[in-house]
Amino acid sequence: MIELGVNIDHVATLRQARRGKDPDVIAAAKICELAGAHQITCHLRQDRRHIQDRDVELLKQVLHVRLNLEMAAVDEIMTIAQRIKPHTVCLVPEKREEITTEGGLDVAGQRKRLTEVVRFFHDSGIKVSMFIDPEVDQVNASAETGADYVELHTGAYANAASSDIMHELNRLATAAARAINAGLVFNAGHGLTVRNLPAVAAIPGLNEVNIGHSIISRAVFIGLENAVREIIEVLHRYSK
Ligand code: PXP
Repeated sequence: MIELGVNIDHVATLRQARRGKDPDVIAAAKICELAGAHQITCHLRQDRRHIQDRDVELLKQVLHVRLNLEMAAVDEIMTIAQRIKPHTVCLVPEKREEITTEGGLDVAGQRKRLTEVVRFFHDSGIKVSMFIDPEVDQVNASAETGADYVELHTGAYANAASSDIMHELNRLATAAARAINAGLVFNAGHGLTVRNLPAVAAIPGLNEVNIGHSIISRAVFIGLENAVREIIEVLHRYSK
């Protein structure tokens, strides 16, 4: 079964718009879990624009499914992750001015440092995923660091003009095949929706997708439980 991680950052974005308690991020995570999500993903950004430290702590305490913490590989957040111990950390690039995570992490450009970061997390019993563009040299570099997973950035595919979609899918499939060959587990995420997911789900060896914006957006109209379930139905169809 291709597994689903639901990214709940956007529930926190709505809450932070009023700096109050609603909508409740923990309740949202539990609804996703009850609807069949295999994992909850959240991104503790350095600017704390949506998810707060307390959210991560509470999620770790109350979830039955895995907690995947997206984060920049910086000391402050590494120390928090080491204390809270999510199941996985997904290392992402982070720029303060960006609207969302733009582009993958340049693992090839910082192999030495990221190898140390992977060791730091492995010593704490936390698995490590690298969020990278679908490029073979980034996959190879990720394998060299000792990471457990790569999450291939599907944003270029999701935003491609129709004439470029096949090219972007081929890039994903090539990088995925290389990842599996190098002993990495292959995940995917960013910009995925109920409509563009099937072609990604059909790539051989896909382990998990992480989806946030489209699920939370559809939840406004059809409810969170239904929005999670319709993604799981697509994944069921493509799972071996
Ligand atoms: N995976 C990673 C590593 C991300 O940074 C994000 C965005 O926070 C997602 C998946 C989910 O992307 P989207 O919100 O576009 O579904």
